[in-house]
Amino acid sequence: MSWILRVRGLQKSFQDAQETRLVLDDINLSAGAGDVVALVGPSGSGKSTLLNLLAGILEADAGEIELCSEGRTVAYTGLSASSRTRLRRRHIGYVFQFFNLVPTLTVRENVMLPLELNGLEELEAEALSRLESLGLVARLNDFPAHLSGGERQRTAIARALAHRPTVVLADEPT
Ligand SMILES: Nc1ncnc2c1ncn2[C@@H]1O[C@H](COP(=O)(O)OP(=O)(O)OP(=O)(O)O)[C@@H](O)[C@H]1O
Ligand SMILES: [Mg+2]
Repeated sequence: MSWILRVRGLQKSFQDAQETRLVLDDINLSAGAGDVVALVGPSGSGKSTLLNLLAGILEADAGEIELCSEGRTVAYTGLSASSRTRLRRRHIGYVFQFFNLVPTLTVRENVMLPLELNGLEELEAEALSRLESLGLVARLNDFPAHLSGGERQRTAIARALAHRPTVVLADEPT
């Protein structure tokens, strides 16, 4: 199998007060290990929506998403919200468009959270050295509200990579 993430015939629409708006129609893609895939399109074209579907935050109306990790393939269709949350927690790193750092946790605590949730405390040293290479050592005990935009962004990137996820989704990360 050459892909780790595969999307077939994906469709998603949103219901407004008056109308149903089709945002994604028949999206197909596959990505292999080590691939970097850039998703390009105008504002409002559905980029964040697609990433939210790949992360299992949203549910598709039709089509299938499959993730292959540690020799096992999981299809999203039919998974409960809590199963999708578990899948996301372990296998996906997500740099959100608006970062979504936990406001009551420090930089260090935000980045260590995925390790705690996954019982991967042995990766703490690696996560700390990543924070160092991202120039965040002086900010470790600061809360997100006291960070600059770039510092927030780099904290979000460090958090997305901490648990060595199978797939990193990054929504306008630069
Ligand atoms: N929860 C929602 N309910 C209704 N409409 C939504 C919802 N989320 C997104 N949309 C609509 O879907 C379309 C795609 O939104 P999305 O956020 O995916 O765009 P985008 O390509 O990421 O845009 P940007 O580049 O501005 O971030 C937009 O028209 C938006 O209004
Ligand atoms: Mg977006």
